[in-house]
Amino acid sequence: MDKEAISKIQKAAESSIEQAKSLEELERIRIKVFGRKGELTQILRGLSSLPIEERKEIGRLANLAKEQLTARLAARKVELETSQATTEDKIDVTLPGYRLWRGSRHPITQTLDEILAIFVGMGYQEELGPEIETEWYNYDALNFPPDHPARDMIACFYLGQGLLLRSHTSPVQIRVMERKKPPIRIVAPGRVFRPDAFDASHSPVFYQVEGLYVDEGVSMADLKGTLEVFSKKMFGEKTKIRFSPSYFPFTEPSAELAILCVVCEGQGCKTCKNSGWLEILGCGMVHPKVLENVGYDSVKYTGFAFGMGVERIAMIKYAIDDIRLFYENDLRFLEQF
Ligand code: DAH
Repeated sequence: MDKEAISKIQKAAESSIEQAKSLEELERIRIKVFGRKGELTQILRGLSSLPIEERKEIGRLANLAKEQLTARLAARKVELETSQATTEDKIDVTLPGYRLWRGSRHPITQTLDEILAIFVGMGYQEELGPEIETEWYNYDALNFPPDHPARDMIACFYLGQGLLLRSHTSPVQIRVMERKKPPIRIVAPGRVFRPDAFDASHSPVFYQVEGLYVDEGVSMADLKGTLEVFSKKMFGEKTKIRFSPSYFPFTEPSAELAILCVVCEGQGCKTCKNSGWLEILGCGMVHPKVLENVGYDSVKYTGFAFGMGVERIAMIKYAIDDIRLFYENDLRFLEQF
């Protein structure tokens, strides 16, 4: 028995361990080397018949080879076990897939963005105003008389010291006109607050978009043309519209814009309360008193304004019959948008 024999056994075993493709193959290699009749086992067993000097040297080498091969076998075993596990994972096509949850924008946000994009496309700029307002901006500057019912304690949230939660976005008209000179072309989105009980058509907090266009020579024809374009972009090119007389303290004349009922097409149904029409916004020519309240020359300048409820627009567009659905955050509702 010589040293080369041991090193030959070790080299051969090492290379077959590296090439082993399965745990079974690895086990066969282990038996070939370490089994009862294994190559190394036999050498170790034959040590006692060797002369003392040779026994020491061969014994040392054989034990070293045993240690190293045992370590190799263990390492390869771990490798094979983990790679077998991952290939099994990869090919198990029977496992159910994971649900990929995808977020989406809230239907009110989508509708609001759509409204703003239409007016931005016509040259309007977005403006914001505060949710806490003074009575001056919310009422007086907009030509509400001191005894107007909208000022009632039950019609808005008073905070004391002449402050209140704005009940509409119209005060943004005043704030912008105070800061800028005509031409003015703005849209102002935001939340408004009213002490209404939550029901299918009322919410104490909701969104409005205010619009204002002031310049020399702005007429009712501009108002009608602009809002007709808006209606058709929002609800479709075939949309039929109707203006009817109305009243707001800050516009004169004032009007309401309605579209032909999208549910019954004018026949009369529950959605349009049998009128055949759905009111979508209030509008009018800016009252000269309002222009004077911000220091504009009301002979030189004229303008139109409009205001709409975003929830209402969304409800008409998506045929939603209860405003509360927008605030309940029920995924079965939200996922449809
Ligand atoms: N501020 C009104 C409201 O909350 C809506 C409105 C009507 C705004 C006519 C306007 C307008 O700018 O011209 O009911």
